[in-house]
Amino acid sequence: MSNRNLSLSELDSAHLLHPITEFRTHEKKGPRIFTGGQGIRLETSDGKTVIDGFSGLFNINIGHGRTEVADAVAEQMRKLAFYPSFYGFSSEPAIKLAERMASLVPDGSDISHFLFTTGGSDANETIFRTARLYHAVLGEPQRMKILSRRWSYHGITRAAGSATTLPVYHVFSPPDPLHIYVAAPYCFRCEFDCVLTDCNYKCIDAVEEAIHKEGAETIAAFVAEPVAGTGGIIPPPPEYFSRLEKLCKSHGILLILDEVITGFGRTGKWFGMEHWNIYPDLMSFAKGITSGYLPLGGMGITRHVYETIRDKSPDKFPFMAGLTYNNHPASCAAALVNIDIIQNEGLVENARETGAYLLECMNQAFGSHPFVADIRGLGMLASIECAQPGTKKPVGGRQMSFTNAVSSLCWEEGLIIRSLWENISLAPPLCTTRTEIDEIVCILQKAVDSITRRFA
Ligand SMILES: Cc1ncc(COP(=O)(O)O)c(C=O)c1O
Repeated sequence: MSNRNLSLSELDSAHLLHPITEFRTHEKKGPRIFTGGQGIRLETSDGKTVIDGFSGLFNINIGHGRTEVADAVAEQMRKLAFYPSFYGFSSEPAIKLAERMASLVPDGSDISHFLFTTGGSDANETIFRTARLYHAVLGEPQRMKILSRRWSYHGITRAAGSATTLPVYHVFSPPDPLHIYVAAPYCFRCEFDCVLTDCNYKCIDAVEEAIHKEGAETIAAFVAEPVAGTGGIIPPPPEYFSRLEKLCKSHGILLILDEVITGFGRTGKWFGMEHWNIYPDLMSFAKGITSGYLPLGGMGITRHVYETIRDKSPDKFPFMAGLTYNNHPASCAAALVNIDIIQNEGLVENARETGAYLLECMNQAFGSHPFVADIRGLGMLASIECAQPGTKKPVGGRQMSFTNAVSSLCWEEGLIIRSLWENISLAPPLCTTRTEIDEIVCILQKAVDSITRRFA
């Protein structure tokens, strides 16, 4: 039955499903329809302009409205929109992007080979499959388990969703038992109730205990976000990753870094791994690789992992990864221009410098706020964690949490932020200026103050 006489908003409610959206609330409130964007600002169908304080979903690194990307994609599509890359078929943009990625990973990393996916979840699916394959061809097919840390998000498909440890993602869809969860380096909510550095990294000791309990010979890989994003922007304490890297190596466990959020300048370096000079065996990425102009993700593997699979796989046994849209030429063309923009416009440096300014402003605005218990960030990632004064308990209840109320008011005042659990997170585009940061923090501070009066 056709409903074409309905408004766009009514048609949305009538036919379109939205991820991470409650159906009942959506039908009542209707959609927020975006019609355009420029820089850090978006326009809506009802004539409103809002600041994109979260870069979509941590991904619109270059900002909105960069027509160069559209031009490059159109040019590629006119030449060759798509052909699969199975069986050795290839295309110029995919080859060039793989070479570009090899040049972007830090010196010292041996990551040399890349496969492009459609996003972060399928990048992680592929990466777990590859890690298991690596061990299998070396004669250890029983190394199947994947370790991940609490407060982590690695995607929502079967294996990636099982590595995701945020419990809400497992309601009605329990994780695969091959995924083992360990402590996170989340100092504010330390599982061991201790304080850095007195703790001497009990979260790493706990990983070691888990390895012994499970048996190192059953574990394929350990996956971690350099800075946990969805969990609430949680940068790790200084020695965490070097200790983790050493521990994994000593047990023959592959280290996977999920750079889906932290890649492409988000933390003020090209990749999060550069903050601690750690070198994973495999890495996943997505989001900032195209700034969302087209879907793309991927995995990178070291020369050692590549050569092991190449040399030890049974005769005539192909690399059994394969999505129709792997190495998509148009998406790869978008990525190449996006990376040019990040490089030519110094956006990594801007994320580092303006991001430090953002954190400074957040500290100034919220450092002594009664409901703000922790302020964290790295590069263009910043978060405040809210709690009742002197506690770690939530402010507000399930019906209306403090952070959700702040987020709603920010929207009314023209700013998109992310409120998740007790966190209010910001991740503006990497092109954001200091003046724009002032504007963002000013709106957020007014909203927090106003909602504080309501909740106090
Ligand atoms: C760290 C991390 N890994 C993986 C994913 C999954 O990416 P996608 O949503 O593109 O499947 C996300 C998505 O937010 C993420 O933040």
